[in-house]
Amino acid sequence: MQMKKEVPLIVANWKMNPPTVADAKRLLEATKRAMGSSRSYDVIIAPPAIFLRELAKGYKGKRIQFAAQNMHWEPSGSFTGELSGRQVKDAGASYVLVGHAERRGMGETNDDVRKKMAMAAANNLKPILCIGESERRPDGEYWRVIGEQLVTALRDVPKNKLKDIVIAYEPVWAIGAPSPMQPEEMHGTTIYVRKVLGREHGRPGMQLPILYGGAIDETSAGAMLTDGYVEGLLVGRASVDGRQFARLLEAVRSSQARR
Ligand code: PGA
Repeated sequence: MQMKKEVPLIVANWKMNPPTVADAKRLLEATKRAMGSSRSYDVIIAPPAIFLRELAKGYKGKRIQFAAQNMHWEPSGSFTGELSGRQVKDAGASYVLVGHAERRGMGETNDDVRKKMAMAAANNLKPILCIGESERRPDGEYWRVIGEQLVTALRDVPKNKLKDIVIAYEPVWAIGAPSPMQPEEMHGTTIYVRKVLGREHGRPGMQLPILYGGAIDETSAGAMLTDGYVEGLLVGRASVDGRQFARLLEAVRSSQARR
C-alpha cells in the first residue's frame, strides 16, 4: 500500500509554453540547476506533448519525472489531434494529467475523465487527477461537485492501480488568478477529499497524495504545504520562468526544513 509521500511533489504544468524545443530544454536545465542536490521535494514536469520525447530522452537523472498534459481514452483510431496513453508512455511520460480544468473547460465531462483514468491504468501511467469546483457559493454546492468528480473518475480504476493515483485539487476560480485559496480553506478541502476517498476506497483511498493547484508562487508555496496539509503543489505560471520556479523550489525547501 502506498504510504503518504514523505517529501512534497511539485508538478510543473507548462501548459502551452515555452515556444520552442530549444526554450523547453533551457527551462529543463534551469529547473535541474534550481533543484541542485536538494532532496526536499520531487518534481514532475508536464511539458507540451510535442517536447516530451526530446526532453525525456535528454534527461539522464532520476529526480525529475515527466507527465503528459492530456491523453485520449481510446487505445487507437480515428481521433485527429489526439494522443493515446501508449503514445505518451512511449514518448517518456510516466504520469499524465487527467481532467485538468482547462480541458474540462473545453468540454471534457466527468465520464470522459473516468474513461481516461481507466486507460491511464491500462498503460501503467500514473494519473494526476485534477478536480475542483468553478465557484464557491455559501450553499456549499461545491462539495457535491468535488465529490461527484472524484467518485466518477475513480469508478473504473482497478483496485491494484489505485495506489498510482495523485489527486490535484484545483479550484477553477484560483487557476490563473492573482492569488490562491487560503491554506486554512484548503485544509478543510483536504479533509473532505480524503473522507470521500476513504468512504469509496477504504484505506488505500485515504493514502492517496493530495496536491493543491491554482495561483501558487514562491510567496504562497510554503504556507500551502504546511497549513493546507497537502502533499504537493501543481504549479502553472510560476513553473515556466526558470528563475521564478527556482525561488518557488527554494520556498518549498525551506518550509520543509522548518517542519
Ligand atoms: P496557475 O495554474 O498556477 O497558473 O494558476 C495552475 C494550473 O492550472 O495547473
